[in-house]
Amino acid sequence: MKKLYIKSYGCQMNVYDSGRMADVLAPLGFTQAEDYIDSDMVVLNTCHIREKASEKIYSELGRIRQEKERRKKLGGDMIIAVAGCVAQAEGHEIFSRAPFVDIVVGPQSYHRLPELVAKVESHGARGNGLAIDLDFPEVSKFDLLPAPSGGGVSEFLSIQEGCDQFCTFCVVPYTRGAEYSRNVPEIYREALTLTQNGAIELTLLGQNVNAYHGLGLDGETINLAKLIRHLAKIPALKRIRYTTSHPLDMDDELIALHGTEEKLMPFLHLPVQSGSDAILKAMNRKHDADYYRKVIEKLRHARPDIAFSSDFIVGFPGETDEDFAATMELVREIGYAQAYSFKYSPRPGTPAADKESQVPEAVKDERLQQLQELISHQQRKFNESFVGRETEVLFDRKGKYEGQIMGRSPWMQSVHVKDGEAYAGRLMPVVITEGRGSSLAGEIVEFASDTRYNTLMRNTK
Ligand code: SAH
Ligand code: SF4
Ligand code: F3S
Repeated sequence: MKKLYIKSYGCQMNVYDSGRMADVLAPLGFTQAEDYIDSDMVVLNTCHIREKASEKIYSELGRIRQEKERRKKLGGDMIIAVAGCVAQAEGHEIFSRAPFVDIVVGPQSYHRLPELVAKVESHGARGNGLAIDLDFPEVSKFDLLPAPSGGGVSEFLSIQEGCDQFCTFCVVPYTRGAEYSRNVPEIYREALTLTQNGAIELTLLGQNVNAYHGLGLDGETINLAKLIRHLAKIPALKRIRYTTSHPLDMDDELIALHGTEEKLMPFLHLPVQSGSDAILKAMNRKHDADYYRKVIEKLRHARPDIAFSSDFIVGFPGETDEDFAATMELVREIGYAQAYSFKYSPRPGTPAADKESQVPEAVKDERLQQLQELISHQQRKFNESFVGRETEVLFDRKGKYEGQIMGRSPWMQSVHVKDGEAYAGRLMPVVITEGRGSSLAGEIVEFASDTRYNTLMRNTK
């Protein structure tokens, strides 16, 4: 048995891909470990989206190198691989900055990992650019990688990869390549396997997931709404989510489905990036703020209890105080259940990075703080509104404390329950007793008619 440690950075697609890498390496005798100490192979599945994310990899590599050297002194060895978006973007440069790295492999080449490992093993893990694969091959990696078996109650399923949008700040179209949709039978089979192995919830993944257009059984093109309707027929599957969507691809069929398909959860991550039309234009988002407002309005009309999250960038080149005020105004208007916000980070090779109108760091800091305060306030208000309500929670992980379990509400809130070990892995009704900044506390409702339940509901009112 050889020990394999994989660490994922960045988006959920990397988490999914890390699973695929573990699957493809398993036949070579690798089993996954919790940390890199004493590992025979370490894979960092990296993210290039902002400079900080990218640079973090090199400090982590420094730590891993020490372990590699320690093992070597004891007569052992360690293969170090860099995968993911930094691998794709920096390629050979990684070997010059970190010569002890053995493998650099881009997101479309994970099926070639066994060959790359064999190449390294035949030479000894000496680093120095022995094994690199950054191809965008003709045959999709999905056709060549083993199908995931899952095992969790909530699983990711990649249905689409890459992006053709070319927002002027973003590296994804370069690191993940052109948009590609997997075909329906392949996705359906994977969904079946995952549910047979215990999945109750599936999150369909794609960099631009609602642009999905895969081939159906008869060779016709199937959009995301149709795919979801198809998957919803799997009885064991109770919850469906999809992420990340682009407002432009939020078509009426998909919007309407939120009102009719009960398995589709009432929570949508729909990034807008900015509330200013001028900035949206400079970002090449291809829609204005009012268009986004209308999409939100239509979704609320279809599903009145739907809640939203978004991504925002502050300090995009040329962003004025007025532009930023328009973002704050949009956030106030929409009211988010949660949202992510980032300072603009110039990325090599993207059009916005070369703009002369870069915003000073101090201004970015100030704007980020204001925006994050507003978002935290909205999130707290949203969470507090659940106190005294009953909702269903899918318990998918252990909590920090002995006996505590954690799960997700339909609205993606983290809910924790004391002494709940018996309910791990189950979808349970829960009364919310406390709403906090980023989580909810609750108690499991065993029987709706129970007097304990009535007392609970009374006490939390
Ligand atoms: N495909 C998704 C998001 C991909 S990246 C979409 O279309 O929205 C996730 C988020 O990172 C983006 O939504 C954006 O807010 C942020 N981001 C991307 N590039 C960035 C950059 N150069 N600087 C700061 N934030 C960035
Ligand atoms: Fe990046 Fe824009 Fe594509 Fe999202 S839609 S991945 S932000 S280029
Ligand atoms: Fe990061 Fe690549 Fe995902 S840059 S956000 S890991 S697509």
